[in-house]
Amino acid sequence: MKKVLVVFGTRPEAIKMCPLIIELKKRRNLEIVVCVTGQHRQMLDQVLNVFNIIPDYDFSIMKNKQTLFDITCTILEKTKELIEKITPDIVLVHGDTTTTFAAALASFYKNVEVGHVEAGLRTYDINSPFPEEFNRRAVSLISKYHFAPTEQARNNLLNEKINNNIYITGNTAIDALSTTVRKNYVHEHLEWAKGSKLIMITAHRRENLGEPLKQMFRAIKRIILEHPDVKAIYPIHMNPIVRETAREILGNEDRIKIIEPLEVIDFHNFMNHAYLILTDSGGIQEEAPSLGKPVLVMRETTERPEGIKAGTLKLVGTDEDNIYYSFKELLINKKLYAEMAKSSNPYGDGKSSQRIADIIEHGFTDI
Ligand code: UD1
Ligand code: UDP
Repeated sequence: MKKVLVVFGTRPEAIKMCPLIIELKKRRNLEIVVCVTGQHRQMLDQVLNVFNIIPDYDFSIMKNKQTLFDITCTILEKTKELIEKITPDIVLVHGDTTTTFAAALASFYKNVEVGHVEAGLRTYDINSPFPEEFNRRAVSLISKYHFAPTEQARNNLLNEKINNNIYITGNTAIDALSTTVRKNYVHEHLEWAKGSKLIMITAHRRENLGEPLKQMFRAIKRIILEHPDVKAIYPIHMNPIVRETAREILGNEDRIKIIEPLEVIDFHNFMNHAYLILTDSGGIQEEAPSLGKPVLVMRETTERPEGIKAGTLKLVGTDEDNIYYSFKELLINKKLYAEMAKSSNPYGDGKSSQRIADIIEHGFTDI
């Protein structure tokens, strides 16, 4: 019996790891131990509730306005203790958060094999996104198994001379999406937006805190004021720094609703009803193409070039005027909008968890 320890700690990791945990738990030859670091609290618990996952261990590390030092040091120490206690055969981590990095590093120090889900994403700018680009590159260096979502991600690893145990599996983000979006979905906030072009907004990246965030919000405000047929819903991240800036710039607008983070089922359905999405999120860039929803990515770089190539995503940076003009163009240029609003599946077919579980259960042979 192979003992698999799964460690994650933030909302996006949970959204992408819960479908995999459900699949792994079906396998008779595997013993699954779930550990959450609690890097996020409320936003993590929301997801665990939706997927009905009760963790075996919870480090509960979150602090208000936590620093990278707080997160890294605490998780490194606590993962070490857990590995000593339960002696797993393999530790599975996901993506690029500091939970991912610290848990992988602890496993490496303890000589336990690491399996990296969503491996191989790169911007090749170590400062953007910060610190995620460092986290994922560091985790690639110490992982034994690399579950790459796309061909491009695999090629990135190969170019870095990581040659063994790379598996193209698709992204587990799409697994969840195939069950959450419903045709007859209704919600009071969507009723409020009925008859208008609905814009969904999210923002939280560390490198965007401060001036870049202000520029994004000012651009959005200008557009909303100029276009009476547009309404925006902004399920705001719980980071107090984001909240302060958003309240200051967007807080008093009738056609902008700032609401608490949505449960993932609701968020997916809100996206499905949206005209356009403005975000600096990573996961949303993967989900939007399969829903055929144009996304203006308010970042300087992206590690998800597949969505750009598919035409659904446009990288607009964080400059106020750039965001303003790109946003405006998509409201008035119907042809451009139609070109972006085509659905495609560059990130998988919804069966990634099955593929990863098969590989972990039946052994690791190169694909
Ligand atoms: C983290 C990840 C980022 C990921 C993002 C997803 C790192 C360094 N950053 O960034 O890669 O894209 O999660 O959202 O790993 N907070 C709460 N409740 C919550 C969650 C956050 O109150 O449920 C507040 C706390 O004050 C916390 C702050 O938000 O200190 C920032 O959280 P943190 O995890 O450090 O950074 P994120 O921006 O969420
Ligand atoms: N999401 C959610 N509720 C919200 C906003 C986003 O469930 O109110 C989901 C979204 O569908 C995606 C994930 O959260 O799956 C993205 O998380 P986030 O933007 O926090 O992190 P990132 O992907 O940038 O790491």
